[in-house]
Amino acid sequence: MKYLVVAVGCALLFCSVMVNAQKKKISVSPPDKSLVSEAEVLVMVGGEDVNQDSVDIKLNNVDLRDKVRYLGSMAYVALTLNKGENRLLVMNNGQVEKQLTYLFQENEPPPKGYTRFIFHDAFLNSGCGDCHDLEMKPFDYKNIVYSEEAISLCLECHDDRLQAKYIHGPVGAGICTPCHDPHGNERQFLLTRKGNSLCEICHEKERIQKHLTKLQETKAGSSTSCLDCHDPHGTEKKFHLK
Ligand code: HEC
Ligand code: HEC
Ligand code: HEC
Ligand code: HEC
Ligand code: HEC
Repeated sequence: MKYLVVAVGCALLFCSVMVNAQKKKISVSPPDKSLVSEAEVLVMVGGEDVNQDSVDIKLNNVDLRDKVRYLGSMAYVALTLNKGENRLLVMNNGQVEKQLTYLFQENEPPPKGYTRFIFHDAFLNSGCGDCHDLEMKPFDYKNIVYSEEAISLCLECHDDRLQAKYIHGPVGAGICTPCHDPHGNERQFLLTRKGNSLCEICHEKERIQKHLTKLQETKAGSSTSCLDCHDPHGTEKKFHLK
């Protein structure tokens, strides 16, 4: 009997774990409590069970279902925010998934609890089709489009990055997205990580630690921030030193 109770208990626990695992999460960008400095913004809603026509969005109680567009399993909608607080309700397959507040104000710093969200200019102003193949199919990195003349999508508009004499490896190859979010995020310059951890995406941590130690021992350099000495894109000096 005791074993049966334990067995049933375990089965119930297992079931509840299964149910939790099945409830798929929806992600919304910008996230809750974002401060934005433009009235016209784009909101993206993603998640495995997002599919054509499954998403409904209400902005300050106005239903925007007809305005929701889709790119694979990503839904997106253009919003015009009111000055001050805006309430967003995101539903998927008829269920309320998220309630968010966006604060639209220009220039002033974010009040407590809010984080500034920065949009990539091209994300807001040129539409998804400038960078993605818009046919309704699952998102695939191969469907990122760019003209044949440019080595990369990003350099089509930012070719000034290639003018320095000594160019950082990834920049020369037109690879920008390890360091920059193409759409928007909460970090200045759309950076994907903070501080030296940005460099650690590709440069081995131990090796650069040795590099810093060596610099401190042999040269005047006592700084520990990579960007104090190196430009991330390129300069006129070797090792793209500043
Ligand atoms: C400036 C170019 C650009 C624009 C504009 C753009 N994207 Fe992207 N997007 C990219 C790039 C580049 C990647 C791949 C990112 C990476 O390599 O990590 C990407 C990745 C994605 C992904 C997969 C990764 C993720 O973030 O979930 C989705 C979905 C997506 N974009 C949707 C959209 C939608 C929807 C729009 C329009 C509302 C849009 N994108 C506009 C460049 C762009
Ligand atoms: C259709 C043109 C276009 C494309 C394609 C494009 N950008 Fe931009 N980007 C802009 C414009 C316009 C600005 C705003 C003016 C500026 O800072 O140059 C901008 C700004 C930026 C900024 C500075 C943001 C800030 O807050 O200061 C970064 C970083 C950036 N882009 C990265 C990228 C990356 C990475 C890609 C490729 C995924 C890309 N861009 C593709 C047009 C473009
Ligand atoms: C190794 C990481 C890294 C890579 C790769 C990279 N960037 Fe940056 N980028 C940065 C950092 C860090 C900043 C912040 C400003 C600074 O320190 O120069 C920045 C700033 C920028 C800015 C805004 C400020 C400015 O200097 O005008 C633009 C635009 C930009 N990057 C575009 C690009 C493009 C386009 C590519 C790809 C061709 C690219 N970046 C590749 C790290 C990177
Ligand atoms: C996306 C990958 C990537 C990231 C992120 C990255 N690097 Fe690099 N870095 C490279 C590649 C690739 C090379 C070229 C290696 C070679 O030529 O042997 C390189 C080379 C360098 C060099 C040597 C240049 C030379 O002339 O030998 C320096 C300095 C450097 N990176 C600094 C940085 C700093 C600082 C950061 C962070 C802001 C950073 N890297 C982030 C990929 C990356
Ligand atoms: C105090 C200035 C200074 C700082 C801080 C600094 N570097 Fe350097 N770095 C240099 C100089 C100078 C060189 C030229 C070669 C040398 O002296 O080692 C160099 C060379 C390099 C090289 C190419 C040679 C090699 O060892 O492969 C890489 C890669 C590099 N740095 C990455 C980084 C990264 C990543 C950081 C941040 C953790 C960083 N550096 C911080 C000054 C600095």
